Amino acid sequence: MRASVLVTRASFPDIVARLRVHFDVTDNPDDTLWTQPELIARLQGKSAALTAGSDRIDATLLDACPQLKAVCNIGVGYNNVDVEACTARGVLVTNTPDVLTDTTADFGFALMMAAARRVTESERFLRRGEWTKTGRYDMFVGSDVHGSTLGILGMGRIGQAIARRGALGFGMRVIYHNRSQLSPDIEASCGARYVDKDTLLLEADHLVIVVPYSASSHHAIGLQELRKMKSSATLTNIARGGVVDDAALAEALAEGSIAAAGLDVFEGEPAVNPALLALSNVVLTPHIGSASVSTRRAMASLCVDNLLAALGLGATPGKPPTPVNPRVLTGAPAAV
Ligand code: DGY
Repeated sequence: MRASVLVTRASFPDIVARLRVHFDVTDNPDDTLWTQPELIARLQGKSAALTAGSDRIDATLLDACPQLKAVCNIGVGYNNVDVEACTARGVLVTNTPDVLTDTTADFGFALMMAAARRVTESERFLRRGEWTKTGRYDMFVGSDVHGSTLGILGMGRIGQAIARRGALGFGMRVIYHNRSQLSPDIEASCGARYVDKDTLLLEADHLVIVVPYSASSHHAIGLQELRKMKSSATLTNIARGGVVDDAALAEALAEGSIAAAGLDVFEGEPAVNPALLALSNVVLTPHIGSASVSTRRAMASLCVDNLLAALGLGATPGKPPTPVNPRVLTGAPAAV
C-alpha cells in the first residue's frame, strides 16, 4: 500500500507532482487556512506532512497523529513546530535553510532602504495627487544608507549576507550582536565587528533584526531598547513577529524615538497592529522576504527532497538534506 502525505498549503504543482509518483497526496490547491481540528483531521493516516509557518505542530497534534514520521517545514524558521515534542515522539523535523539566504538578505536591504529614503511614504503622497510643487529642498528628506553604520541583531547566514551587502556594496560600517561572536575569518569576510547589545542600539544608523524567534528572543526589542537608538535611525524586522514588541515600536515611531521602520513580520500575522497601520513612517510588507520565484521553488523542492528522504526515497534515502533534529535519524538519546 502506498503511504499518504499531506501538503498543507498551495505550492508549485510540478514540485508537488514529485510526491505523487510515490504517495497518495492530499494537498490544498485553494490554499484554505485550516483550523487546528481541520489540520489534525487531514493528518490522520499521513506518514509525513509538508507544512508552513501557519501550521502549528504541537504535542496535542502529534498525539492525535501517531503515524506521523516527518514534518517538513517550508522556511528556515520553524518556531511553528514544537521540535522537542517531535523529537520525543521520534518525528523528524526539517526546514529549508541556505536556499533563501540571499533573496531574504536582498529583501531586508530593500526594506531598510525604503524606510531610510521614505520610498513608500513619498509614493503614497504622489499617488494621492499631492505633488503639486516640484523641487522643494526638504521634500521627503531621509537618511543615507551608504557610509552609515549598519547594526545587525542575529548574525546567522542571513545576517552575514546583509552584512556583506552593507560593507562591500554600500561602504557601511557594520556592527552586530549575536548569542556568540563569529570567528575572526567570518567576521572579516563580512566586514563586521561584534559589539554588545547596548552599543548596537546606540550606534546603529540602520538596525536590522534577523534573530530567530524563541522564548529568549521574545520582545528583544521593546520600548526601552528603541529609546536607546538614534532619533534618526531606522529599524527593519525580517526575522519573526514577536522579536520586536510591535506596540512599543508604534509608540517609538510616533514619539520620534526612531525615524522609520521596515517590517515584513508581525506579532499575530496576518493581523497587523492598527497603531502601525496608522503611521506613515513605516514600510509594511506581508512576510515576503524569501518570495522570489526561483527561491520559493528552491524552498519547495528542498522540502520535497527532505520528505522523500525521510520516508526512505529520493536521492538520499534516509538522509534528509536539512534535518532540524537529526537525532531522530540516528536514534541518539536526547541530550541532558
Ligand atoms: C522563513 O524561511 O522562515 C520565512 O520567514 C518564511 O516563513
